[in-house]
Amino acid sequence: MLIDEALTTTRAVRRGVDLRRPVTRDVIEQCLRLAVHAPTGGGRQDWRFVGIDDPGLKHAVAEYYRSASAAHLKHAPPSTDVESARYLAQNLERIPVLLLACILGRQSPSEHPARTASRYGSLYPAVWSFMLAARARGLATAFTTVHLAYEREIADLLGIPYDQVTQGCLVPVGYAKRWFGAAGRRPAADVTSWNHWRHG
Ligand SMILES: Cc1cc2nc3c(=O)[nH]c(=O)nc-3n(C[C@H](O)[C@H](O)[C@H](O)COP(=O)(O)O)c2cc1C
Repeated sequence: MLIDEALTTTRAVRRGVDLRRPVTRDVIEQCLRLAVHAPTGGGRQDWRFVGIDDPGLKHAVAEYYRSASAAHLKHAPPSTDVESARYLAQNLERIPVLLLACILGRQSPSEHPARTASRYGSLYPAVWSFMLAARARGLATAFTTVHLAYEREIADLLGIPYDQVTQGCLVPVGYAKRWFGAAGRRPAADVTSWNHWRHG
C-alpha cells in the first residue's frame, strides 16, 4: 500500500469491524514492531502496550468505556459520528483485540507543559504508526480516549501501576468488513500560515 493511501484512508472504524474474524497476537505484534520505530522524547522509548484479548477483561474494560461514553455523549447533538461512537461503546467487548497504549510516568500538578507535551507526544506517534501498519494488513482501528475517565479502575483491573504509568489511549482492532475513502477534512491551506499567525 502506498503511504499516501494509508494516510488518507486510515479512519476511525467503529461499525465496519468483522466481529467474527479473530485477530492473532502475531499480527498485532507485527504492527507493534513497526510502531516502535516512531520517535520518543529524548529517545526514551518509554511507551508500553497492553494487548487485551481475554473476554472477561475486554468485557470489564467495555463496561467502564460504556459508562464514560454515555456521560460524554449525553449532550452531544445527533450526528453519524456520535451514532457510530455509541455503536462502538455498545459492542466494544466484541472487537477481537483492545490495545491499551501507555507511557511511563505520571503528570504532577506542577508539571511544565513542555514535559506534558513530551509525554503524550512520545506515545501518539507510535499509536498512529500502529494504526497505519494495521491498515496495511486489513485491520481496522479507532483511536479512543473516553475510557480515561476510569483510568485508575482500568489500571487496577490490568495490574498497571497507576502512579508510575499513564494510559494514553485504547485502540480496538479487528479485520475491516469494508474500507472507507479518504476522510473529509478542512483544506490544509485554511489552517496554515507562514511566518505569522493568521487570525480568523
Ligand atoms: C485524541 C483523540 C481522542 C479520541 N477519542 C475517541 C473516543 O473516545 N471514542 C471514539 O469513538 N472516537 C474517538 N476518537 C476518534 C475521532 O472521533 C475520529 O478520529 C474523528 O471523528 C475522525 O474520524 P475519521 O478519521 O473516520 O474521519 C478520538 C480521536 C482522537 C485523535
